[in-house]
Formats: sequence, structure tokens, C-alpha cells
Amino acid sequence: VDDSFLQCISSHSQNHSKPISEFVLAKNTSAYSSVFQSSVRNLRFLNTSTTKPEFIITPFNESHIQAAIVCAKAYDMQIRIRSGGHDYEGLSYVSEEKFVLIDLVNLRSISIDIEKESAWVESGATLGEFYYKIAEKSNVYGFPAGSCPTVGVGGHISGGGFGTIFRKYGLAADTVIDAKIVDVNGRILDRKSMGEDLFWAIRGGGGASFGVIFSWKVRLVQIPPSVTVFKVAKTLEQGASKLLQKWQRIGDKLPEDLFLHAATEVVNASSNNNKTIRVSFDSLYLGEAGKLVPVMQDNFPELGLKLENCTEMSWIQSVLYFAGFSTSESSELLLNRTAQSKGFFKAKSDYVKEPISETGFEGLYKKLLEAETSGLILTPYGGKMSQIQDSETPFPHRRGNIYKIQYMVTWDKEEETEQHLRWMRSLYSYMAPYVSKSPRAAYLNYRDLDLGRNKNGNTSFAQASVWGLKYFKNNFKRLVKVKTETDPSNFFRNEQSIPVFS
Ligand code: FDA
Repeated sequence: VDDSFLQCISSHSQNHSKPISEFVLAKNTSAYSSVFQSSVRNLRFLNTSTTKPEFIITPFNESHIQAAIVCAKAYDMQIRIRSGGHDYEGLSYVSEEKFVLIDLVNLRSISIDIEKESAWVESGATLGEFYYKIAEKSNVYGFPAGSCPTVGVGGHISGGGFGTIFRKYGLAADTVIDAKIVDVNGRILDRKSMGEDLFWAIRGGGGASFGVIFSWKVRLVQIPPSVTVFKVAKTLEQGASKLLQKWQRIGDKLPEDLFLHAATEVVNASSNNNKTIRVSFDSLYLGEAGKLVPVMQDNFPELGLKLENCTEMSWIQSVLYFAGFSTSESSELLLNRTAQSKGFFKAKSDYVKEPISETGFEGLYKKLLEAETSGLILTPYGGKMSQIQDSETPFPHRRGNIYKIQYMVTWDKEEETEQHLRWMRSLYSYMAPYVSKSPRAAYLNYRDLDLGRNKNGNTSFAQASVWGLKYFKNNFKRLVKVKTETDPSNFFRNEQSIPVFS
């Protein structure tokens, strides 16, 4: 198979300036393992028992993607598509079926047009690379996407993508004005030739069900030359619980220039040897500190924010700050594609529509204290997110949500995996009465296979609705319709791909 598959790729590729050995790696080649592992973020999926791809293809141009699709089909192999490798369940590089991995690491050019306030960015670029390139051109433009610089543009935009300025500008997917995709027949399509239905589906419906999206045209957004950040952290003993109660009531109603999220961690209590919960209120304000302090005093005086708690900086420094770097470091750090840390983790998400009672939170703190490496991030909604219709893109979690919760637990040793997965499931079950219901909504980019999975990639509409409605609500049916029209043989499939109507 090896030789004839390589022959197939060679005959379907244009631009022969690159020898095939530079972009097609068979299992016996020396670079295979390091390329496979390069962007794996969750060590749960790097063990020896996971099935590895027959070939890794790292396209240098779109004809290499076309060849990969045509030849994988011809040799009856599945494909997995990887941009930044941050999928929470490893779906971009793990499969139970025989498969070819298309890794877009070499497709990461970025072309920025400040005058037209837009950019073309290839899927294999990371968010960090994109932010860096924007800042290189201008200090008054930015892009509304996630805080982790090693996340890939391809998976992030096609699954939604939110960050510190999304209350003002919406999701990364909301900024897309054109895209280029290779479809199941190996055709290269742009917005005009793919049509509005497919263009709608790839902006939040998860790209992997529809084709390989290799480039995105997005709108850039205006940013003031100086933004302000602050962080105020309190333990339960210092009154964090009351602050969180108040935050639940104002987080989504603050002006849209102001993003204030709350994150928890388990720490040592200062007064005794016990563990406690510390809640950090982290903020980005699109303006100067002098204007922010009165806004906070009006809306959240209990936090006691003072001018000296605030730091003004450029937007790109705020990107470093939220990525956990020092703002005095060079923004070139954002070009480093290697994750700051790799580890084992499991995460889940929930949407909250009504403030959770104090009793509800008390039980939640107790659960968190059972797992020392657990944490929550509570992300306030409102602002622009409430102004966009649920049906405008497949991402449906807009008006009516006050915040989203991400639950996360990390660990270091493979043998601890089952225990942590069990704990996470029990936490999720504890939270059921307090969060959105019918469906209990979830964020696609925080993928969670506990919500349900396709068997061998093939599942009926009814079975897939169990998880599909959680991610997409009323948009699920339209996604299935687009899928049925564009990929009727269900070639692009995985454990949570959109099914076809049978
Ligand atoms: P990866 O390459 O693993 O792809 C994810 C999915 O998209 C897979 O199903 C894959 O097949 C598919 N896909 C990827 N590229 C494609 C392409 N070109 N065409 C078609 N399908 C494609 N999210 C967020 O909104 N805000 C945040 O701040 C963060 N922060 C964050 C931090 C960390 C440490 C992690 C691990 C994750 C996040 N995320 C996040 C979640 C992140 O947005 C989500 O995991 C993205 O899908 C990752 O995109 P990648 O390209 O890196 O992943």
C-alpha cells in the first residue's frame, strides 16, 4: 500500500517543487513520531494504545490537501484534520478507523490589510502568530479570539472561538467574511462557490464534518492604543463567596468594553493547614484605568478596585498577560508553537441562565476541594453576544445566558486517569440543577465525548441529537441538512461529527 499510496499522492499533487518525502510521512520515516507528537496537548491521547495514522501529510499548498482527500478515499482510509492539536478529546489526531492525518502546520501564512480592516489567515497558524502579526502592523487593531496562543486558527474558528474582547466583538467565527475549503470531491471552494449554507456551517459547526478549511478571511477589530488589566483574588475566608454572588448578577450587564471573568483554584488557607478555594477576578478593559475605576465602583463596589490595582498596556501586551507571560517579555513569545505545558486533562462546560444560589456554590466548593488540581473559569456573556441571533451561525449560546462555566481537572500520571474522569463526571452531575436544561447546553470547542458519540462514525439523526442539541440547539437540524447535501457518503466523520439524514 505504501508505494501505491505515495504514487497516488504524487500524481494528484501540483507544484512538484517539494519532494513528496517532505510532506508525506509513512510510519517508518524518522520524522513521523516527532511530527505526530508535536502539537498534542492532552497526554491522555499520546499513549501507546491509541491507533496511529498510516500516513501523516503536512501540505504545503492546497493541491496537497486535494491529493490527500482523493487518495485517502481511494485507499479506503479515514482522515483526521489537525491545525493546532488542542482538541480536548484528541479528535484531530486519534481515530479507531484506519486513517491519514492531515496536519496543516505548514499552511500558516497571514496577510493583513489594515486599510480594509481584514486579514487572510491560514488554518495552521496559531492564534499567537496571528495576534503577533496584527500588532506588528498596527497598535490599534486586534482580533477577538481565545487567550491561549498555541491554539490553532482552524479548529478554533470553525468551533466558535471566544476571548477577552468577545463581549464587544463576538466570537472569532462571527468575524469571518470568506473562507477556502477542500470538499469531499477534492474541489477548492470559496464563499461564493461553496454557497451560504456550507459557509454558515463552518463558522461554529466544527470544520471536520465538512472538509478541510485551509484559509479564512476575517474582519479585524479596532482596539484603543492603551487597554487596562486588573486581577483581584480572594479566598473563601476573605469573602470570595459573596463577591461571586454579586459577580453573577453584574458580569453580563457590564459595559461591553469591560470583560471580567472569575476563575477558581484550590490553594492552602493562610490561617491553617486546610485547603480552600481562591477566586480571581481578572479583567480586560478597552480603555484607560481612570475610566475603568468609576465603572467598577458603580457596578461592583464590593470588589474595592483602586487605581493602583490597574495596569495600562498595549493590546498585544494584554495578550501576553492573559497567556500567563510577563508583559515585559517580548511579544515574539507568541510565535512559539510549543505549548507552555502538556499534561493529562478533562474538561466540561455548562451555560448558566439564572444566578446559582449560595447553597449551590457551597456544594460546588466542596466538590472542588476533593480534587486539588481542579478549577473553574466563569466567563460572562451579554454585550455583543446578546445582540447576535442564535441562528446567525451554528453557535447558539447567545441571549439569555449570563455566563459559561468551564470545569477543568489536570493530572500528571496516566494511572490516575480513571479516578479523575470519575470525579469530573460526579461534579457535572452535581451541577445539573443549577445550569441550563433541555438541552443542557455545552460549548463545541470544549469538546466532551461523555455527551455522546457516533459509533464507527455512523449514527442516526436521533442518536446524534443527544449531543448535537447540546452544542447547537435548533441549529443542529440545519447542520445535518448541510452535511447531507455536501458530504452524503459521510466521508468526513468522527466520534462527534454531524451525521447525514438517512
Ligand atoms: P485541533 O487541530 O485539535 O482541531 C480541533 C477540531 O477542529 C478537530 O475536530 C479537527 O479535526 C478540526 N479542525 C482543525 N482544523 C481544521 C481545519 N482546518 N478544517 C476542518 N476541521 C479542522 N477556546 C476558546 O474559545 N477560547 C479560549 O480561550 C480557549 N483556550 C484554550 C486553551 C487551551 C490550553 C486549550 C487546550 C484549548 C483552548 N480552547 C479555547 C479550545 C480551543 O478553541 C479548541 O480546542 C479548538 O478546537 C482548538 O483548535 P486547534 O486547531 O488547536 O485544534
